[in-house]
Amino acid sequence: PGMSLMKHYLQFKDLRAEEYAYLFDRASTIKKRFKNYEKYTPLADRTLAMIFEKASTRTRVSFEAGMYQMGGSVVHLTTGDSQLGRAEPIEDSARVISRMVDLVMIRTFEQTKIERFAAHSRVPVINGLTNEYHPCQILADIFTFIEHRGSIQGKVVAWVGDGNNMANTWLQAAEILGFTVHVSTPGGYEVDPAVAGVKDAGCYRVFADPKEACRGAHLVTTDVWTSMGYEAENEARRKAFADWCVDADMMAAAQPDALFMHCLPAHRGEEVTAEVIDGPQSVVWDEAENRMHVQKVLMEYLLLGRIG
Ligand code: CP
Ligand code: NVA
Repeated sequence: PGMSLMKHYLQFKDLRAEEYAYLFDRASTIKKRFKNYEKYTPLADRTLAMIFEKASTRTRVSFEAGMYQMGGSVVHLTTGDSQLGRAEPIEDSARVISRMVDLVMIRTFEQTKIERFAAHSRVPVINGLTNEYHPCQILADIFTFIEHRGSIQGKVVAWVGDGNNMANTWLQAAEILGFTVHVSTPGGYEVDPAVAGVKDAGCYRVFADPKEACRGAHLVTTDVWTSMGYEAENEARRKAFADWCVDADMMAAAQPDALFMHCLPAHRGEEVTAEVIDGPQSVVWDEAENRMHVQKVLMEYLLLGRIG
């Protein structure tokens, strides 16, 4: 696409509700094709650069496999094996990398870093996780909810745990797609609506008691107590979060058919019991697989626009 049409995906609110409706619909088509072993290679001759300043399993495999399936290729860079780790300015890296590839995915620390990269990039940039947001994960999570339960509009999502990148992104999604997030975090780890970037306070409610947050929820979800980059706080967090473990009792407070999600990697016995994450309400493996299907559609959309 021409420069004027270029879109980045740096946070969930970079796309509108009607664009999400298209992406979710398109993702089920693309997923069906994949399950039927149908070849579909609209990104032949396109290259995705993936820059990882933090570890990853799902994000790397889903983008890399997805890009190959669509006929394209990938370049994988990390801080340690590129000049990024030797303090080449992010702006210069953006200018250089974006002259050679068609699309860039970045996993890094501060959101300002990906914004600086995007400001100097000639090609679309996708957020593969920052300290503040994880939009590709919520894209997959909502697609997974739709597959299992239909529209998420008007539903209640319980967020139990850290007011982190996942929590911020859930709030943004609630505002755009019209559902409510019940948030329960330990004191000192609250979600900051200014960081989440939501204007409508009606899209979330705060609960001191995690079980109260789960009451009546259609989806219960949590994440690690210590995100990447915060390892020095690990001990303090283990103490503060002890009562924020999603267990059978919390699931029992939710709707009888409530789903459980976790972006993974998970720590059984910390943020969730084995009984819940390995139990019948958990859809965590679908959630992980769906990263690939929704990101294939996101890449197709950013590079080729709407199909059909
Ligand atoms: N959920 C997620 O982003 O996983 P990875 O850290 O393995 O990419
Ligand atoms: N909140 C976690 C998510 C990992 C996929 C982190 O940022 O480490």
